[in-house]
Amino acid sequence: MTGLFDLTDRTVLVTGAGSGIGQRVAVGLAEAGADVSCVDLAAQRTGSEETADRIRAVGRRAAVIDADVTDADSVEAAVAAHESELGALDGAVNCAGVNHGAHAEEMDVADFRRVVDVNLTGVFLCCQAEGRRMLDRGRGAIVNIASMSATIANRGLWQAHYNSSKAGVKHLTTTLALEWGTRGVRVNALSPGYIETAMIAGPEWTDKKEGFARDTPLGRMGTPDDLVGPVVFLLSDAASYVTGADLLADGGFTGW
Ligand SMILES: NC(=O)c1ccc[n+]([C@@H]2O[C@H](COP(=O)([O-])OP(=O)(O)OC[C@H]3O[C@@H](n4cnc5c(N)ncnc54)[C@H](O)[C@@H]3O)[C@@H](O)[C@H]2O)c1
Repeated sequence: MTGLFDLTDRTVLVTGAGSGIGQRVAVGLAEAGADVSCVDLAAQRTGSEETADRIRAVGRRAAVIDADVTDADSVEAAVAAHESELGALDGAVNCAGVNHGAHAEEMDVADFRRVVDVNLTGVFLCCQAEGRRMLDRGRGAIVNIASMSATIANRGLWQAHYNSSKAGVKHLTTTLALEWGTRGVRVNALSPGYIETAMIAGPEWTDKKEGFARDTPLGRMGTPDDLVGPVVFLLSDAASYVTGADLLADGGFTGW
C-alpha cells in the first residue's frame, strides 16, 4: 500500500526551495525517494544550498538552480538545467511566492503588479516550461501552491493583490488540468492555511498569529511539515485519478 506513495527515482523540481514550505517539501520529496532540484532566486542561494545538503543527507540527488520565476527565459533555463543534472522531469512543485500588506484604496499599483507577477505569472511560466516537457513524454504531475486565500479573504489582512493572485493560481490549475488531462499530465493545487514561515514572521505578526491559531479548528497554525504528505500524495501514483483539485491543508479554517 505504501508503494502507492513511493517516488523512488522520480525527479522533481521545486521552486521557492530555499525557504519555508518549498524547503521542507523539497526535503520531504527526497524522503519519499525523489531526486530534487532546488530552484530559487540567486539571493536565496544559501537557503537553496542548505535544502540540497538535507536532500543529499537522505541519500538522494539534489541540484541547486538560481532562477527568477517572473522571467520566462530564466524559468526555461532552470527546467533545462534540471533535466541535464537530474534527468527527465517527472514532477514539479511551484511554490515560489511573495506577500505584502496594504489597504486596497492606498495600494501602489507597482506592488499589485509585483505580487501578481511572482505568484500568478510565475506559476504560469513554470507550468508552461515544465508542461512542455511532460506533454512531449505523455506523463507528469504538477502541484501549484495556492492558498486558502484563493477561496476566502483573510479577516484583518489587507492583501487584495495576494488574494487575487492565489485565486488566479487556483483557476489556472483547473484550466491546465482540463487542457492537459488526456495528454498524461495532472495538475493540482495545494492550498495551505496559516503556516509558520518567514512569510509571516516578525513582530507585526505576533498578535495576528495568536488569532490564527485560535480561529483554526485544529487549534494551531500549520508548519511546513504538515504540507509534505499532501504534496507527496498529489505527485504520487496514489493520486492517479486526481487532477484539477484544490487540496486545502488549512487545519479546517475555511470550514467556518
Ligand atoms: N506561510 C503561509 O502561511 C502560506 C499560506 C498559504 C500559502 N503560502 C504560499 O506558500 C508558498 C511558500 O511560502 P512560504 O511561506 O514558504 O514563504 P517564504 O518566504 O519562506 O518562501 C518563499 C520563497 O519564494 C522565493 N521567491 C520569491 N520570489 C521569487 C522569484 N521571483 N523567483 C524565484 N523564487 C522566488 C523566495 O526567495 C523564498 O525562498 C508561497 O507561494 C506562499 O504564497 C504560504
